[in-house]
Amino acid sequence: MQRFYTLFVGQVFHDLPQVDSTNSFALDLLTKSKPSEGTVISTLHQTNGRGQIGSSWESEPGKNISLSIILYPSFLPAHLQFQFSQAISLAVYDLVFSFFGEKARIKWPNDIYVGQKKVAGILIQNSIAGSHLRSSVAGIGINVNQESFKSNPPNPTSFFLENGKFYDLGGLIAPLLQFVEKRYLQLKSGKIVPLQHSYLEALYRFDEDALFQRANGDNFMGRISGVTASGRLIISVQHQEETFDHKEIRFCHS
Ligand code: BTN
Repeated sequence: MQRFYTLFVGQVFHDLPQVDSTNSFALDLLTKSKPSEGTVISTLHQTNGRGQIGSSWESEPGKNISLSIILYPSFLPAHLQFQFSQAISLAVYDLVFSFFGEKARIKWPNDIYVGQKKVAGILIQNSIAGSHLRSSVAGIGINVNQESFKSNPPNPTSFFLENGKFYDLGGLIAPLLQFVEKRYLQLKSGKIVPLQHSYLEALYRFDEDALFQRANGDNFMGRISGVTASGRLIISVQHQEETFDHKEIRFCHS
């Protein structure tokens, strides 16, 4: 894999042949030492990749990007941690957008889609000290060269499945880390309004009539109108706004 350097994200780069989970490895590093900000743990073979809400993350060895980035967003109050998730989502979206243009979308809260299918997932694990964040492990899995998927967590796809081309993974990791650095610095310098604007502009099904399902199984038509500061999805249902967390709502696919 080719080497690359950005200002700080990726300056320290652990390229592991195999690991259970790059997130677990990063969290372990944080308990034992003070890794420099922007340290990346990357692997070609993740044996126990972790997904959101306790799920697992499927990734065929050698085919995809699986990496975690250690950052210290201690400038962020804990109740605004969703802003960090937005910045990381936008960075992965920026990369996907550079290949797929308008087909790239962020599905709330932080899945990255091409069209109607999920091409990348993000698992952020924060630690909090007092009222602020202390450290964050931003785990990113991007399906690049995988040709088929065994599991069916919502509609998996890959760069290959979308356009029939195979990619050099290092050639994608370099711009990804640059995008992470750019979005993180945008967040750190307080440019929240442009970040939120970009996030909503990229949001899957934003301001469109769409079918959703409540946790109790009831379907309803609504229109996504925004996201609260704490990251709840705002849906306008018959001209009334309701907010939802991750477990309270499902998107119905057409
Ligand atoms: C999701 O469920 O959508 C989140 C998937 C996150 C997967 C990445 S791969 C690199 C990092 N290490 C992990 O164990 N998980 C994340």
